Formats: sequence, C-alpha cells, structure tokens
Amino acid sequence: MDRRDADDREMLTIALPKGRIAEETLGIFSEIFGEDFHFESRKLILEKGGFRFLNVRNQDVPTYVEYGAADLGVVGLDVISEKELDIIDLLDMRLGRCKVSIGIREEDELDWRRPDIKVATKMVNITKNYFASKAVGVEVIKLYGSIELAPLVGLADAIVDIVETGKTMRENGLKVAEDIMDSSAHLIANKNSFYARKEEIISIYEKVRDVVSSK
Ligand code: PRP
Repeated sequence: MDRRDADDREMLTIALPKGRIAEETLGIFSEIFGEDFHFESRKLILEKGGFRFLNVRNQDVPTYVEYGAADLGVVGLDVISEKELDIIDLLDMRLGRCKVSIGIREEDELDWRRPDIKVATKMVNITKNYFASKAVGVEVIKLYGSIELAPLVGLADAIVDIVETGKTMRENGLKVAEDIMDSSAHLIANKNSFYARKEEIISIYEKVRDVVSSK
C-alpha cells in the first residue's frame, strides 16, 4: 500500500524512533550529506536536503514503513523480531545495542520445569517463541511498561525485557537469568519503495554502512 501523493514522490521519507537513535541517525545523515539535520523541539517532520524525516514512537516505525508512509525506517531488531514484518532488513546500524533477557528476583532460582511459571513482557512473540524452542511451558502475561515491577508484586515469576545498562533490573532487585537475543537498530525499507527506488536506496544504504562500519 502506498498512501503518499504524487507530489511527495521526490522526497525520500525516513521514519526514526524518537530519542537517542533518531538523533544518532540524523548525525550519520549530517555526516554523509553535509547538512545539519535536527528535529525542532516538538516537530514531528523534518524536511531538508531531499529527505523527509518522521519522528515516531519506536514501536510505530515498522508500521509507517510497512504501509509505505515511510520508504525507510530505523528500528530495533527486537521490534523486527516481535512483529512479523513484511519489510526489507537492510543493515545493522550498530546503534542502541542491548539484549533481550529473562529477569528474575535476585533471591530466586527458577526451576523451569515447574508447570505454572508466569512470564511478564511487552514482547509476547519473542517470549513465546523462545520458551517453545526450549520446550518449556510458561504463561505469558502482556504488559505495556514498567515490566520490572511484575515479579516484585507477584504478578509474574520472571520477565522478558530489554537490558541495556542493567541498571533498571539492578535497582529493582532483579538479575538476568538468561539472555535471549542481542538487539541493535537496523535500517529497514518498504518493499515497494525498495524496488521502485532501488538505486537511491542502495546508495543511501552504502553510505550509511560505510559510516557505521568506520565507527
Ligand atoms: C527499557 C526496558 C527497561 C530499560 C532497560 O525501557 O524496558 O526498563 O529500558 O534499560 P537499562 O538496562 O539501561 O536500565 P525504556 O526506558 O526504553 O522504556 P519503555 O518501557 O517505555 O520501552
């Protein structure tokens, strides 16, 4: 599906996840194209140098790209793995490195053979797939945030969540029981855009790849 007007065709639209990854990506584009790309305080669109950057929530980046409202996007591998996305994964940008890990209370040792283990998470599919691959039966409880709270108040025995510095788990008396996967921000493309604007997209991909591999 492609919802843009013919007038917008020239401008390549890139959805970025609000915050540090957006700023670091704009930094890479500034380095490549010699322009100062920067979102103004509350603005959600930045049009400059032939690009239209969209400032969106991390979880929403794939939606903009899948529907063709953005040609390209930058989003965590965890989000790509969680949603079954019909997009092209172009490049690991090596930004925002983190892990998806299982956390339990500091004082606990979980016996995964127990029949009634509850796991709270935002990432239901990653969690289900991981435990299914280990042939461990767990009940997965979907939460939208503050996941670390769940084991502290008896809502769940364990959590599956993003661990970057480990500070949030530590400060809430949790420890990592197991790591499920490494994640970092990836450059993704809408399939139609990729085939329709292949040269342009490949050229950007190559330039971004050269910058990230030199860091
Ligand atoms: C993530 C994650 C953890 C925290 C981990 O939340 O859910 O709570 O970061 O980071 P740390 O290991 O460096 O402490 P985030 O702040 O992205 O908010 P969210 O829950 O709204 O996604």
